[in-house]
Amino acid sequence: MELAGKVAVVTGGASGIGRATVELFAAEGAKVLIADIADEAGETLAERLGASAVYQRTDVSDPAAVEAMIEAAVSRFDGIDVLFNNAGMSCCAFPSFLDDTLEDFDRVMRVNVLGPMLGTRNAARIMARQGRGGVILNNASIAGTLAGHAMMTYRASKAALIQFSKSSAIDLARHGIRVNCIVPGHVRTELSSFGEKGAESGLAARIEEGVNAVYLSNQLIKRRGEPDDVAQVALFLASDRSRHMTGAVIPVEGGVTVGDPVNHLEQIFDARTAAFAAMERLDG
Ligand SMILES: NC(=O)c1ccc[n+]([C@@H]2O[C@H](COP(=O)([O-])OP(=O)(O)OC[C@H]3O[C@@H](n4cnc5c(N)ncnc54)[C@H](O)[C@@H]3O)[C@@H](O)[C@H]2O)c1
Repeated sequence: MELAGKVAVVTGGASGIGRATVELFAAEGAKVLIADIADEAGETLAERLGASAVYQRTDVSDPAAVEAMIEAAVSRFDGIDVLFNNAGMSCCAFPSFLDDTLEDFDRVMRVNVLGPMLGTRNAARIMARQGRGGVILNNASIAGTLAGHAMMTYRASKAALIQFSKSSAIDLARHGIRVNCIVPGHVRTELSSFGEKGAESGLAARIEEGVNAVYLSNQLIKRRGEPDDVAQVALFLASDRSRHMTGAVIPVEGGVTVGDPVNHLEQIFDARTAAFAAMERLDG
């Protein structure tokens, strides 16, 4: 019961990483407000968790809705201790940036950057007034730390979120509010499936197999991340066990960003050996 007596808000809590976190936080004794735009899934989850949870429709890009979300948690459950800014969306993927229309730029930035900024500000105002500290968690992505091609808007939004996370840790420390940022890698959820809507099961399985192989190609732990892998880290960061941590940016990605897994030294030794062998043959 690591979160007994705590009140938490989880945005994007109806699905994937958010849902796994809501379930874990509730199991650890927290009262949880699930904020999402997926009403059916959110309400079903809240019903299943009974008195521990409530669902509130919240588009995190809408300032009035975010204000109402924090007010609802406070009035329903007596204050707020933890906010997990988890809701996020991907952007359109174009194999080349030359073809990127950037049409979804405003929406992606509002959801992935403005949303966490609104949530943090509104929750921190209450936390500062309560005088019992608080925890803010942000859900970024390896797309925000690892450069790569395609999906530029998503990458830029997650990099912005990481910088905001560290800066707000500095700003809010005076109020006893800790801010930490989780950086997931490839987690098996709707967002990262690259699935084909309405595909028959054979095709869906083949797409998943192909996508999995790509994801695992440069990951040290050879299994796809699951939502609960991230939720466990969120629980640690929300709990007093991480009381001396703030401003941290924590990868939860099976080792994707550790470094290049190709052993160049081994290849260099092979190249040298081959060069020596070739020279010996020439001399002979
Ligand atoms: N799945 C991955 O591999 C992965 C990797 C790195 C980071 N992330 C991040 O994790 C977070 C959660 O994603 P997920 O993988 O669990 O995806 P998901 O699609 O399963 O869940 C995302 C949830 O956010 C909600 N949402 C979307 N827009 C919203 C809005 N405007 N307001 C409120 N709720 C909104 C959706 O309805 C959904 O319930 C995102 O921020 C995502 O960028 C995911």
